[in-house]
Amino acid sequence: MSQERLIVACDFGSTTFRGLVTEVDASGNFYITAHARGPARGFQDGDFVNLGSGSLCIAETIKALEAASQTYIRGFTYNISGSHLRGLRSTAQVPIGPGPRPIREADMEEARVRVRSLAMPFDQKILAVTPLEYVVDRVRGIVDPLGRVASQLEMQAHLVTGSRSVLANIEHAIDNAGYKPVGEEVDILAAARALLTPVERARGVMLVDVGGQLTNWVVFADGALLATGSVPYGGDNLTRDLAHGLRLDDEEAERVKREGGVVLRSLVDHVPVRLLFEEERPEVTPGLVAAVLEPRMEEIFTLVKEDYGDLGQLVRLQAGVVLTGGGSRCRGTRRLCEEVFDLPAQERYLPADLPGAEELPPGQWATAIGLTLGAAAETAAVADQDRSGASGILGKLKGLLPSRRKAVALEAEG
Ligand SMILES: Nc1ncnc2c1ncn2[C@@H]1O[C@H](COP(=O)(O)OP(=O)(O)OP(=O)(O)O)[C@@H](O)[C@H]1O
Ligand SMILES: [Mg+2]
Repeated sequence: MSQERLIVACDFGSTTFRGLVTEVDASGNFYITAHARGPARGFQDGDFVNLGSGSLCIAETIKALEAASQTYIRGFTYNISGSHLRGLRSTAQVPIGPGPRPIREADMEEARVRVRSLAMPFDQKILAVTPLEYVVDRVRGIVDPLGRVASQLEMQAHLVTGSRSVLANIEHAIDNAGYKPVGEEVDILAAARALLTPVERARGVMLVDVGGQLTNWVVFADGALLATGSVPYGGDNLTRDLAHGLRLDDEEAERVKREGGVVLRSLVDHVPVRLLFEEERPEVTPGLVAAVLEPRMEEIFTLVKEDYGDLGQLVRLQAGVVLTGGGSRCRGTRRLCEEVFDLPAQERYLPADLPGAEELPPGQWATAIGLTLGAAAETAAVADQDRSGASGILGKLKGLLPSRRKAVALEAEG
């Protein structure tokens, strides 16, 4: 049996669905062998609001991926996003004893179970549990408590929960399209896996993914995930503002934004803003474009900052802000972000060294790449337990080997 295995991942973005087929060889090396994308329809705020057209879009994208990879795809792993997601903290206490003794794996497992068993609405399902820190006999900041002699173990964790109905709807849409929902991951956590380095997580970093209709964010400090959140605005709001402000139709506004979008007035010649109100059809100049876009982009970053809330922690983020997502591509976005957060910022759209990634067309592939890396890690863990090879996600996804580097785009992007 061949040792190469395939992972299929699909990013359901609010504007675009993006699928990837990645080959993983016996040594765990990745190679992205095919990609495809299609417009997102019937999909809003992370949910398939119109099951018919949503399923059709899934089918179009995955069929294009099958053609590009010459692979028969049975199922794939996918992202979860939207305002139904909640980030919250949970604390679990486990008494050790009767007297002090070394903490065992069974105690750790008990802490992991208890940290999940918090009171929450029936409709919510836990999607991710990330340990923040352990407190052992009131000593904080313990990274690995296993083996420490103690009377009490406390685990603090960050949880992300999502609506069961939305999750079921997504599975239903995938099923309707003729595929198997294989695994799910929170959108911003997948993007973080693809884009952030361990050093950045240790120094403290915020990843902000400005998408089409959503801006998702996550903060890491001391190597641990601290908080996640989302605000319901993104690049599509910039387009709508331009259309409204400059009296353009949506397509024209999108073109102006992509070709000459600038979100910082200080980067362009000063133009009196009153022209926007006085002229029936104001001339499209960089000055007016910036006058329209700057307040919206500033609002998005300000809302992210407020959503995070913990301003004291912001100064601890020594690695600053990493910006990603199509909505962050206008000129001046990084500078504006630095002004709002008072932190250094940088743009990043692909991981540094993933073979095949550099051949992807412009667009937001980080989420799909992160989903792939997550599925591979999960399968490696399964394979460790069961060395039969074809177990777990990869086993289910295994198809014919694709011919390399073929790609189909259903709709031009970027
Ligand atoms: N070159 C560009 N310049 C400016 N804006 C761009 C550019 N390319 C894409 N965008 C904008 O990026 C947004 C889409 O971003 P992205 O592809 O990251 O979103 P998505 O993943 O589909 O959605 P979400 O992450 O919100 O679910 C759109 O508003 C689009 O207009
Ligand atoms: Mg996205």
